[in-house]
Amino acid sequence: MAILWNNENTLGYSPKSKQMVIEAYESVNYYPDSMSRDLKQALGEKYGKKEQEIFIGNGSESVLMYTIRAVCSGEDEFLTSEGSFIIVYNWARINNIRCVAMPLTENYGFDLETIKSRINRNTKIIYLANCNNPTGTMITRKELDSFMRHIPDYILVVVDEAYYEYSEALHPNFPNSLEMDYPNILTLRTFSKAYGIAGIRLGFGIGHKKIIESLNKVKITFEPTVMAQAAGMGALNDTEFLKKTINNNTQQLKYFYKEFDRLGIKYIPSYANFIMTMWKDKEEVMKMFEALIQRGVLVRPLYDPISHCIRITVGKPEENQHCVEALGSILS
Ligand SMILES: Cc1ncc(COP(=O)(O)O)c(C=O)c1O
Repeated sequence: MAILWNNENTLGYSPKSKQMVIEAYESVNYYPDSMSRDLKQALGEKYGKKEQEIFIGNGSESVLMYTIRAVCSGEDEFLTSEGSFIIVYNWARINNIRCVAMPLTENYGFDLETIKSRINRNTKIIYLANCNNPTGTMITRKELDSFMRHIPDYILVVVDEAYYEYSEALHPNFPNSLEMDYPNILTLRTFSKAYGIAGIRLGFGIGHKKIIESLNKVKITFEPTVMAQAAGMGALNDTEFLKKTINNNTQQLKYFYKEFDRLGIKYIPSYANFIMTMWKDKEEVMKMFEALIQRGVLVRPLYDPISHCIRITVGKPEENQHCVEALGSILS
C-alpha cells in the first residue's frame, strides 16, 4: 500500500516529539496553556519574532479559519487564485464571505498581475500559497516583493508556506515571507508536513502584533491541546529527523522526474513534497485513479480547472517505486 494523497510525511515522525507527548500525557487532567507560551518562545527564537507576533492553532487550517472570521464580514471579499488549496474556498464560503478566485497562469502558477487587477474596495484578504498546493509552483522573491509594494495596507495578504521546509531546500532563493518587512503579511506555517505530525494538529501564523491580537479575540481558549503543544516542542528540537525528511524529498523528487520522463507522463517540477501530473482529461484521470487504487496506490485526482491533473505525494523510496511500477503497468 502506498498512501500518497494528502502530502503527509510517510517517513513518520520525530521520536523526540513522541517522547514529549508521552511526558505531556502526565498533565492531561489540566487544561493546556491557552497562550502556548513555550512553543511561542521556541518559535520566536527560531524565527526572530516576538511572542505577540505569533498565533498558534490546531493546524494552519485553523489559523486561516480564525483569520477569515477575525478580518472579514458583510460585503468583504477573499481574493485568491483558482487551482489552489481547496480548503480555503470552503472556509470563505462557510463564513459567508465572497471568494473571488482568478485563473491560474498557463504554467499553473498564481497570476499576481490578474489578482492585483481584481482588487476593489471590498477586498479584505488576499490568499497566496507559496509554493502552491496542488500545482507545486512558486512565486519568486522578486514577484512577491513587487506584488506587496502595490497592495494597500488595509488588505491582509496571507502567505501560506505550509511546505516551506521542503521549498527552501529545493530553491536557493525561495522567498521567506517572515523576512519581508510588510505590516500586512500573515505567514502561515504548519507542523503537518515536513515535521510529520499532521494527525496531532498544530500550525501557526506569524504577523504584525495587531493582526495576532485580532486573531486571539476569536480563538477557542484551549487550543491546541497539551499533547499538540508538546509534540511541536519535540519536533522543533529534532533537526536530524527534519534533515532526513528533506533529503529524502529532494532525492525522491528527482527519482519521480526521471521515471515520469521515461513513462512519458507530463508534470510540473515541484517545490514541495508532491508533484502535479497532467493527463488528457478528467476521464483519463479517473481511470488512472481507479487503476492505481486496485494496485494499492492512493493519489489525489484534482478539481476544476485542473481536473485533468493528479497530485502524487512524495513518499518513502519503496512507496514511490511501488507507485511508478503501478503507473508503468497501467500505461503499458
Ligand atoms: C497549502 C496548504 N496550507 C495548509 C495546509 C493545512 O495544513 P494543516 O494540517 O496545518 O492544517 C495544507 C495541507 O495540505 C496545505 O497544502
